[in-house]
Amino acid sequence: MTALAAAADIDTASSLTVIVNKTRPFDPVDYAAPDLRPVKVAYANPPTMRSEAATAVEKMFAAFTAETGLAMQSQSAYRSYTVQKSVYAGWVASRGQASADQTSARAGFSEHQTGLAIDISAKPATCTLAQCFADTPQGEWLAANSWKYGFVLRFPDGMTSVTGYEFEPWHYRYIGVALAADYHASGATTLEQYFGLPPAPDYLK
Ligand code: DAL
Ligand code: ZN
Repeated sequence: MTALAAAADIDTASSLTVIVNKTRPFDPVDYAAPDLRPVKVAYANPPTMRSEAATAVEKMFAAFTAETGLAMQSQSAYRSYTVQKSVYAGWVASRGQASADQTSARAGFSEHQTGLAIDISAKPATCTLAQCFADTPQGEWLAANSWKYGFVLRFPDGMTSVTGYEFEPWHYRYIGVALAADYHASGATTLEQYFGLPPAPDYLK
């Protein structure tokens, strides 16, 4: 593990480096993120995030547009415990629990509850919340450049056995610029690996 990873607080819900997965629920489970504010970017649904992460998203979207002349938008950012509960219930209703669990976190287990995660789509929309987003200019640019703004691709391709979720090329998690640069340089492909945590493919009960 790197020195920066070893020094990070991955346990406190309000830490910018908290790690949430199927074996690491929020404590308390209905934790509400502090310092939420609207993110001033284009969106499909009005996004809020914790202030530092919101600023980073604004910078990242502006850099993408400055470099490429193209645009992206927020699909979904902060989701409270209560909102996540209904999102997950919707997936269970349409797909059944086993399939839902590959795609949507149960309430109390979603990174969206940190206020530090965002689902990003292209504008105009194409491949929204679909794996083909990885092959859009937006998806490719984010995979290559998001670390410079403090973000990591949280659910990479081929890592379901570690993260517990299918490839989500649209879901980015803010951990801060210094740590994201260290993560990028370390060659780690999941936050579990970077922080020396065990794989989290399933819920404990
Ligand atoms: N789609 C991700 C795993 C979530 O629901 O948090
Ligand atoms: Zn997401």
